[in-house]
Amino acid sequence: MHDDEGTISYPRFAAFYTWMTDRPLVRRGQEQFRRECVSQAEGVVLEVGAGGGQNFSFYDAQRVERVEACEPDEAMLNVARRRLADAPVPITLTRAAVESLPFPDASFDCVVATLVFCSVRDVERGLGEVRRVLKPGGKLLLLEHVRSQNGTTAWIQDSLVPLTTRIMGNCHPNRNTQQAVLAAGFSLVQARKVMGGLQPVVQLSVIRPLA
Ligand SMILES: C[S@@+](CC[C@H](N)C(=O)[O-])C[C@H]1O[C@@H](n2cnc3c(N)ncnc32)[C@H](O)[C@@H]1O
Repeated sequence: MHDDEGTISYPRFAAFYTWMTDRPLVRRGQEQFRRECVSQAEGVVLEVGAGGGQNFSFYDAQRVERVEACEPDEAMLNVARRRLADAPVPITLTRAAVESLPFPDASFDCVVATLVFCSVRDVERGLGEVRRVLKPGGKLLLLEHVRSQNGTTAWIQDSLVPLTTRIMGNCHPNRNTQQAVLAAGFSLVQARKVMGGLQPVVQLSVIRPLA
């Protein structure tokens, strides 16, 4: 459920997602691509849709000064609070959606989002906010499951949307996040497919252009 302030509440999904990402098999399966994405973060970092803090342990203390972690769902924030102790860098938690970030313009060197933009209600507005709070030349690091380039698979993804939006915290498996990011005015540095199948996952590294 979403409200007008941008907070959301999917307590059952939060409990299921926490349980699932805590399974040793899932945790080990995700570890490599989470580490590859998050360890590129540097300076003052904003993590949006931080969930239960699944990325906190992967920040590199040699590169990251501090992390502001935002998450709009209180049930996820409760889990994230418990993971603060695993983090090798200082992390502050705030309840906020990416569409209305409570930070001044150009205040971050880097923004991190993993498995978030499939669920965001207004992707264009969210990416506009990310662009606003990033310094010119700042990096946006994304790890997202996206629309398949295979027509049949994309058709299956489209068919799943009514179900996944209801039971998986507004997840849209069919979003073309790379296209949305480029349309929001970011410049592509690197795009890498890390998983295929019904749920292709890409790691994107983009920057807010200097001008
Ligand atoms: C699948 S979980 C991913 C959590 C975590 N980032 C991870 O990598 O495991 C999706 C997360 O996006 C958050 N989310 C949904 N809509 C959002 C929005 N509008 N702004 C920011 N986060 C949002 C959800 O609350 C949830 O924590």
